[in-house]
Amino acid sequence: MESLYGGATHRRVTILDLASAKKRGEKWAMLTSYESMTAEIFDEAGIPVLLVGDSAGNNFLGGENTIAVTVDELIPLTRAVVRGSQRALVIADLPFGSYENSPEQALATSTRFFKEAGAMGVKLEGAHIATVEKLTSSGIPVMGHLGLTPQSLHQLGGYRVQGRTDGDSIMAAALALEKAGACAIVLELVPGELAERITAALSIPTIGIGAGNTCDAQVLVWTDLMGITKNPPKLAKAYRNLRAEMLAAATEYANDVRSATFPGEEQTFH
Ligand code: KIV
Repeated sequence: MESLYGGATHRRVTILDLASAKKRGEKWAMLTSYESMTAEIFDEAGIPVLLVGDSAGNNFLGGENTIAVTVDELIPLTRAVVRGSQRALVIADLPFGSYENSPEQALATSTRFFKEAGAMGVKLEGAHIATVEKLTSSGIPVMGHLGLTPQSLHQLGGYRVQGRTDGDSIMAAALALEKAGACAIVLELVPGELAERITAALSIPTIGIGAGNTCDAQVLVWTDLMGITKNPPKLAKAYRNLRAEMLAAATEYANDVRSATFPGEEQTFH
């Protein structure tokens, strides 16, 4: 694949393509997706990596944060994203409580995502080095996630910028994840200067979210990108205002039904 964008659609993007993109200096975009419709649209847009994030817990399933979402809830969403896409590499997030116990627990959970949903890789938060070694040596690509790790929300004391004073420990964790075999690392809510240093130090891609524009890739939660999220985080940019569009469409539809304008002649069978 010569470019992650606009290339042939006869096969899925792989972690080798991500490694080649880093070597070429080609930047790319990742988006979350939680069902087949957005997967189809984002795939058509050429987004090379789709993440079935545990952010489904709050952005799709109505939870307060990512902590409560379960493996059983994320598996059907992952299956739908795999079904809806043809080209994207689909990564499943391992939810809180499904991998921290041991490398064996992480392998068992990841195996479910692979067998039951067709996931092509998993993402996990924090520096679980032995776990990353276990998964990658078992054939499971692993994406790391450092900086603000939302599953540790209560331990971190809220959604706060990380690495202002402990940048060296995030750098050390990133290097250790790379050594353990991680294929990429999400850097969330860290100073741009730190993300830049980590990106330069690693040979695997960094994927920024609230980490400045020097990372190799960027990720956004799709409902933030489209302006659907009610209270989006500061790190996000809404490229559209679909919330207003959808609200207007639903209101218009309800009014048309009340006034018997819908269905019209075009939608009526004789
Ligand atoms: O769950 C998620 O959506 C994520 C991204 C924000 C990286 O972890």
